[in-house]
Amino acid sequence: MKIITRHWGKINPLKIDSYIRQRGYEALQKAVREMDPKSVIDEVKKSGLRGRGGAGFPTGEKWEIAAREKSPEKYFICNLDESEPGTYKDRLIAEKNPHQVIEGLLIGAYAVGAKKAYIYINGRYAEQAEVLQIALDQAREKEFVGSGILGSAADVEISIHQGAGAYICGEETALLNSIEGKRGEPRLKPLFPPVSGLFGKPTIVNNAETLANLPYIIRHGAQNYAEIGSKTSPGTKLFLLHGAVKNPGFFEAPLGIGLRELIFAKEYGGGMKSGKEFWFAQAGGASGRLVPSGKLDQVLTYDNCEYPLGSGSVLVVDKTEDIKDYLFSWADFFHRESCGKCVPCREGTYRLWEIAKRIRNGDIRERDRENVEDILWTLGNTTFCPLGKFASVAWSDAMKMFPDKIFK
Ligand SMILES: Cc1cc2nc3c(=O)[nH]c(=O)nc-3n(C[C@H](O)[C@H](O)[C@H](O)COP(=O)(O)O)c2cc1C
Ligand code: SF4
Repeated sequence: MKIITRHWGKINPLKIDSYIRQRGYEALQKAVREMDPKSVIDEVKKSGLRGRGGAGFPTGEKWEIAAREKSPEKYFICNLDESEPGTYKDRLIAEKNPHQVIEGLLIGAYAVGAKKAYIYINGRYAEQAEVLQIALDQAREKEFVGSGILGSAADVEISIHQGAGAYICGEETALLNSIEGKRGEPRLKPLFPPVSGLFGKPTIVNNAETLANLPYIIRHGAQNYAEIGSKTSPGTKLFLLHGAVKNPGFFEAPLGIGLRELIFAKEYGGGMKSGKEFWFAQAGGASGRLVPSGKLDQVLTYDNCEYPLGSGSVLVVDKTEDIKDYLFSWADFFHRESCGKCVPCREGTYRLWEIAKRIRNGDIRERDRENVEDILWTLGNTTFCPLGKFASVAWSDAMKMFPDKIFK
């Protein structure tokens, strides 16, 4: 069952007619001509669609909050920042089928009453930004974008905003600051963006993969969609497999698939590379937890709070590898990406990086273990936004799972 990748390879991303021949933009036509905004929101709520940006927040419910706000000005933003290490699914979506995201964005903006929409794209995705710009220009020519979409009363203008490539700018409020021309730092919540977002107006931020599901939902109906995947996390998901598997790459699979199946089934990872023995997996990018072999029956859904699936990236590590290299690379990433707004994260990620550097070089000191535990607690419990906590997750698991391989 393919929703996100179903047209990949069959359409030319630079030619809108090629998407239209696959019944592209039919869902937009149906939405603006046959459905009022409330019915679109009801349909998305019924589908059970949950945000693919990591947290799995129910999409229709979020839209309803912004739709209820009386403001004449509202915004809708497609989050294509994607800076999580090992995650490149939104980049693929943008380059393989840009119109699917644009169509989803238009449907969402129409549903909440936003006349202005943005695609916020990571500055490192310059080629994908170009592909999206070409797609957008073609969609405008066909009257899918702009005022009076397809002769209806719906007006939605879309602009592309290129960020500078900071991980924190994927966090929705830092993203809003970035579009406003401010420092990319998160804002205090509440208020949440659907109530007070871009320029203080009601704003929806949705991940690009979330939006790419919408044409299917509107065209085939909520009921059809709700039957795919798991009951509480319906639909499919793009998973990215890395590391010591036979077939690393991207796979679209129903939500609810088990980690074991994703790693070992022939149609996905195909098992371990020859001669390699499974040690642990990391689900959800650099901010994800470490999964030992005894936990491979964990399913990948948004209800799994023990092992959150996050962005859907899965790294498989074999027994020949050195955990100290991973500890260093996690610490290196987070100390670089800490935005510096709050002390526990700014200092904590830096101190952890310093210790990680030494541990990797075999320079282990008496109080390292105690200091690391202290830093991890601080990151996990006191930082302003989730990035600080993310920096502690894999380290905390490694400390519990194999302390003897770290401090010796
Ligand atoms: C540090 C941090 C980085 C994030 N990066 C991204 C990102 O690159 N892309 C994304 O869609 N969401 C990211 N998020 C989640 C967003 O804040 C937000 O929840 C999401 O864009 C909402 O879209 P969704 O409801 O469709 O998932 C990040 C969150 C945090 C805390
Ligand atoms: S936790 Fe880190 S990224 Fe978040 S506000 Fe504090 S310094 Fe910035």
